[in-house]
Amino acid sequence: TNDLKDKRVNIQALINDKVSQALEAAGAPAGSPAAVRQSAKVQFGDYQANGVMGVAKKLGTNPREFAQKVIEQLDLDGIAEKVEIAGPGFINIFLSKTWLAEQAENALKDARLGVAKEEQKTIVVDYSAPNVAKEMHVGHLRSTIIGDAVVRTLEHLGHKVIRANHLGDWGTQFGMLIANLERHEAQGGDISMDLSDIEGFYRESKKLYDEDEEFAKTARNYVVRLQSGDEYCKSKWQTLVKITLEQNQHNYDRLNVSLTDKDVMGESMYNDMLPGIVADLKEKGLAVEDDGAQVVFLDEYKNKDGEPMGVIIQKRDGGFLYTTTDIACAKYRYEQLGADRVLYFIDSRQHQHLMQAWTIVRKAGYVPEEVSLEHHAFGMMLGKDGRPFKTRAGGTVRLADLLDEAEERASKLIEEKNPELDAAEKANIANTVAMAAVKYADLSKHRTTDYIFDWDNMLAFEGNTAPYMQYAYTRVASIFKRAGVELTDLTHPVVINEEKEQVLLSKLLQFEEAVQTVAREGHPHVMCSYLFELAGNFSSFYEACPILNAEEDVKQSRLKLALLTAKTIKQGLDLLGIETLERM
Ligand code: ARG
Repeated sequence: TNDLKDKRVNIQALINDKVSQALEAAGAPAGSPAAVRQSAKVQFGDYQANGVMGVAKKLGTNPREFAQKVIEQLDLDGIAEKVEIAGPGFINIFLSKTWLAEQAENALKDARLGVAKEEQKTIVVDYSAPNVAKEMHVGHLRSTIIGDAVVRTLEHLGHKVIRANHLGDWGTQFGMLIANLERHEAQGGDISMDLSDIEGFYRESKKLYDEDEEFAKTARNYVVRLQSGDEYCKSKWQTLVKITLEQNQHNYDRLNVSLTDKDVMGESMYNDMLPGIVADLKEKGLAVEDDGAQVVFLDEYKNKDGEPMGVIIQKRDGGFLYTTTDIACAKYRYEQLGADRVLYFIDSRQHQHLMQAWTIVRKAGYVPEEVSLEHHAFGMMLGKDGRPFKTRAGGTVRLADLLDEAEERASKLIEEKNPELDAAEKANIANTVAMAAVKYADLSKHRTTDYIFDWDNMLAFEGNTAPYMQYAYTRVASIFKRAGVELTDLTHPVVINEEKEQVLLSKLLQFEEAVQTVAREGHPHVMCSYLFELAGNFSSFYEACPILNAEEDVKQSRLKLALLTAKTIKQGLDLLGIETLERM
């Protein structure tokens, strides 16, 4: 495996390895970080190693002299053509043009563009998780979009990914919902029509519950019956779940989100585990009775009086809580699903909730430390005014309405840009651009911060937006198409002569690093930034390096770079769940 010349690898990892070895050979303690990064500027080469200074300081030697020793030990034969010391002791690495060209040829020949599969792990991803009889709103949109992009990326790297849609399908609200469903059925209406506005149905149920004592009594009775497994109540409950799922599926399909009914693992799934968990936590001395309720006191969390915070896992009336379910759920994912990693894409406001649940999970030994439970939190979606995103009347925005508006706006835009296309193609372009715009606007932002939902921004053809990236793809792809050739016609090798060619190619070969970073950190914006920079590098290359009127050998080499760019953009967008168009 040391013959790295023939192997397409994550270049950053490869160089990092090599510099680490050299550091040690030069006398650094084992495991000293080489800290190899992509260089920020062309004059600093393709990569730079920043670890030397830290090690030299520890050893008490002159960093530049130590850097020289490291370089003497550094074996980048055939990979780098120049290695330089810069500033106080940075090592700048300039990749060999021949080596880069070889990598390009390998990537072109491979459907995976040379991106290697990772050692397979079982990874559970908890995302989307809307609630039954509630409209999916913009809050679920972020979880759905970001989670789906990470799922696609993990699968691409060869992992076994289990999509877990933690549907909110349990709770005392089902009493009133069942009672109201029964009422509608008695009136002989069309149930799926009646429930097409499910949020309205929910509000109506709540109003009846608050105002009609008879109704409230029935509702309370149904809660008890549902919880004890009564068939009648269960079938009504199932009707509500089914209708909600159909509506959600419609949103998922429109958005090209890969979730289906098969991925639903709702809260109700864990019901049977809950009494056992409470009993076990009591037996382990973790849960104690407090004022009739079962509580776990955690030293890690203090209440406002500085005392250990009590997390209720069973109420005085016997009811279980959201936290109890998440404890059971983590245990299930490890024990039954065999998870090596569990990723949760949930609003940052639920961070404390998750940390409490997982602290209990770890203390009880339900999930071993080596299995990571990761909260990939995200901020809120805000309106242009910087306040939580709401309708003009102040209500939550229905996801379906939001998607309709995106389509309307994109239609107008395409109408202005391409009035000559036929109606069907225009509609297809508008639809593809609209969904991509909504998704990309979310994916391209660092997810932990709140973000401002702004139609004009997300539909702009300039900047780091979906229309820009989709257009970049069509443009690059059309250059290749205009040449009227196939890859197999290109018999001349890739040759790098110009700086812009080198910059573009070096960026192209960093695709794998972007894919792996998204998989590791769950941050799809890394892929968006990568693709945006790649598109920029291509533009500069295209400006400086004519393709179609160049000499045949140069032309072929550049066509190969164009083709690899098109393929990389397409695959990158695909991993984000964004579709491309051949014409727009
Ligand atoms: N249904 C919840 C909500 O709408 C999100 C569930 C997230 N997943 C979890 N395992 N708690 O807020």
